[in-house]
Amino acid sequence: MALSFSIIIILIIVNSVIASRTCPRGCDCIETLLITNCSVSSQLEYVPHTLNPSLKKLYLPRNNIRRIDTAFDVYKNLIYLDLSSNLITTIVNNNFQYNSELQTILLKNNSLAMLEPKAFNGLNLLKILDLSFNRIEMINGSIFKNLNSLQILDISFNLLKVLNENTFVGLRNLINLNISNNLIMKLSTNLFSNIPKLINLNISMNQLEHLDDNWFIALYDLTVLDLSSCHLSSLSSYCFNGLNNLTILNLNNNSLMAIPSASFLPKNVIQVLNIGNNPFPFIHPKSFYHLKHLKQIYLTNASSLAKIHVDAFDGVENLEMLELSNNQALKHIDSNVFNNLYSLSSLILSNNSFESLEIDLITKYKKYDLYLDVRGNPFSCNCSLEWLNFHLIRMFNKTISSNPDYFLNQNITFPIFNLVTLLNENVSEIIMKQNALDVRCYSPFSLKDKFIIKLHKDKFGCFLLESYIPIIIGGLFGLLIIGGVIILLVIQCRNQLSGFVKNQLYTENQFKNNQFDLYPKPEFVFISTYNDFYKNPANINAAMEEFSVRYPLNQAHQQPPTTEL
Ligand SMILES: *[C@@H]1O[C@H](CO)[C@@H](O)[C@H](O)[C@H]1NC(C)=O
Ligand SMILES: *[C@@H]1O[C@H](CO)[C@@H](O)[C@H](O)[C@H]1NC(C)=O
Ligand SMILES: *[C@@H]1O[C@H](CO)[C@@H](O)[C@H](O)[C@H]1NC(C)=O
Ligand SMILES: *[C@@H]1O[C@H](CO)[C@@H](O)[C@H](O)[C@H]1NC(C)=O
Ligand SMILES: *[C@@H]1O[C@H](CO)[C@@H](O)[C@H](O)[C@H]1NC(C)=O
Ligand SMILES: *[C@@H]1O[C@H](CO)[C@@H](O)[C@H](O)[C@H]1NC(C)=O
Ligand SMILES: *[C@@H]1O[C@H](CO)[C@@H](O)[C@H](O)[C@H]1NC(C)=O
Ligand SMILES: *[C@@H]1O[C@H](CO)[C@@H](O)[C@H](O)[C@H]1NC(C)=O
Ligand SMILES: *[C@@H]1O[C@H](CO)[C@@H](O)[C@H](O)[C@H]1NC(C)=O
Ligand SMILES: *[C@@H]1O[C@H](CO)[C@@H](O)[C@H](O)[C@H]1NC(C)=O
Ligand SMILES: *[C@@H]1O[C@H](CO)[C@@H](O)[C@H](O)[C@H]1NC(C)=O
Ligand SMILES: *[C@@H]1O[C@H](CO)[C@@H](O)[C@H](O)[C@H]1NC(C)=O
Repeated sequence: MALSFSIIIILIIVNSVIASRTCPRGCDCIETLLITNCSVSSQLEYVPHTLNPSLKKLYLPRNNIRRIDTAFDVYKNLIYLDLSSNLITTIVNNNFQYNSELQTILLKNNSLAMLEPKAFNGLNLLKILDLSFNRIEMINGSIFKNLNSLQILDISFNLLKVLNENTFVGLRNLINLNISNNLIMKLSTNLFSNIPKLINLNISMNQLEHLDDNWFIALYDLTVLDLSSCHLSSLSSYCFNGLNNLTILNLNNNSLMAIPSASFLPKNVIQVLNIGNNPFPFIHPKSFYHLKHLKQIYLTNASSLAKIHVDAFDGVENLEMLELSNNQALKHIDSNVFNNLYSLSSLILSNNSFESLEIDLITKYKKYDLYLDVRGNPFSCNCSLEWLNFHLIRMFNKTISSNPDYFLNQNITFPIFNLVTLLNENVSEIIMKQNALDVRCYSPFSLKDKFIIKLHKDKFGCFLLESYIPIIIGGLFGLLIIGGVIILLVIQCRNQLSGFVKNQLYTENQFKNNQFDLYPKPEFVFISTYNDFYKNPANINAAMEEFSVRYPLNQAHQQPPTTEL
């Protein structure tokens, strides 16, 4: 017993002596886990060859390694190899021929320009290959053909101009392909025909300019397609043909002069569309008509967008979120434009050039609860916008109606948060409410930069009933006298007249009430289920915190009664 114990002790000591002898300066060799980490100021110029041959994980990032040919031949059990941020220029033929256990190779941020045709031979279990941030201009032949297990291939941030048809031969289990940030001008029709399991394809930041028919036809599992920043100015009608599972499509920051409605084929299942940063001046009727599953539209930063046709969103009945923001040329929006968006629960209209918004914009829904963000517009705070003051207060605090002057004495000092922040942060109720707080007037001068939520209703200059009470009473009196005369003369009119008098008395009663009552008494609906949506945009179905106001439909636009006198 004691003997075997001391043998173990000796073994441990011997082991650690060996370890310290074979572990290069600046490296961290964890023998028990078979990990070596040489990432801290090791300044290695070559791959150490005296490490434990049973090594499983080797971390060599941020060294000065230039050559790796045959360097890994001794480490046959390697499963993880990180060579990021070195100075490697070439992967020679059979570089990894004895490393058949390797599952991950990270070669990000080197100087790779040359990949010999058999560079990746023998890597039958490789799952992740990261070649991003290199200088690869061309990929020869079927260089990946033995990587039958590869799931993630990242060749982004290189200098690729062309991808020949055979490039992806053999990658039959590939799920993520990132070829973004290259100089690719054209994709060939059969390029993707060998990778039918692909789910994410990122082509953003290339120079495609045009999408041809059927380029993606083999990708029937593809779910996410990023075509942002590709200089796209035209799309063929069948360019998205075959993408039967496509859920997220990013066309942001291209050169599209119109929403490419013809390319959205019937039966598509696209749920999220980002089409901002394009130069179209106009959104045509039925632009999104075939996008029956669409739940989110991001339309921001479209610098020329000046007009949205009233039927632009026809057909997208399932839309839940619309972000229409940062469109500097957008000064007006038709109040009926969102009429048929029965499922809309979140409407972001921030940073446009709206001077005013009509209450009908949000009251004509079948569904009345709506989260509204209207920050950053040059609002003209006149009577037309009085409703917004009221709406924002309701958004902020569902119980505030008992004290409408609550905000007059509050200091509002919250910073501005944009949607991206909201989506990424663990948002509290308060942060969401900031959107209600930080809506300001731009004109008239006396109200510039004043928070709308803090303004007293008088400031909106609506016709004030109080100051006209004497006139109204005088008028009523006169009307009663004339009415009496008429009653004497025309008996048949009696019923109608008594109705008229009743109306006037009702008006008078309202003078005594809170000014909110000038509008027909709103019926409020608050849904306080807490949001997951802002934390996880993909999970749009999750309930979100919703603040809302409901105005009775037919009376929503009714003016204060005296204006009719
Ligand atoms: C390697 O060492 C560095 C510095 O100690 C550390 O930051 C890094 O997380 C380590 N990597 C691994 C995978 O342990
Ligand atoms: C890329 O590698 C160089 C050294 O080769 C290093 O200075 C730089 O910080 C690395 N970049 C990134 C993003 O890691
Ligand atoms: C492709 O092959 C040619 C000739 O065989 C070679 O000159 C070129 O460097 C190769 N390109 C890459 C990226 O390996
Ligand atoms: C490329 O795409 C892959 C898979 O989607 C992703 O993991 C990776 O971060 C992307 N590369 C860059 C540089 O963003
Ligand atoms: C595509 O790659 C770029 C980097 O080149 C990245 O910023 C973007 O988030 C990626 N898109 C997706 C959908 O992952
Ligand atoms: C793609 O859609 C088909 C049916 O249209 C479905 O059977 C398949 O599972 C989907 N693939 C993915 C990855 O969702
Ligand atoms: C838009 O695309 C251009 C080039 O296509 C690129 O330089 C720019 O950074 C992109 N802007 C954004 C916000 O992605
Ligand atoms: C909006 O456009 C401006 C100028 O073109 C650009 O600098 C900015 O990055 C864009 N913002 C977004 C969110 O795309
Ligand atoms: C309020 O200002 C807007 C924008 O300047 C204007 O269109 C609207 O007619 C004004 N409303 C009233 C009641 O003056
Ligand atoms: C709502 O307003 C009332 C005052 O009417 C205030 O006491 C209460 O704290 C407010 N609630 C929230 C969550 O701000
Ligand atoms: C608002 O700010 C002023 C001065 O900064 C301070 O005196 C006052 O107490 C603050 N009011 C509230 C309600 O926080
Ligand atoms: C609106 O513009 C401001 C200032 O330019 C910016 O900080 C904010 O992020 C923008 N908001 C949105 C939703 O884009």
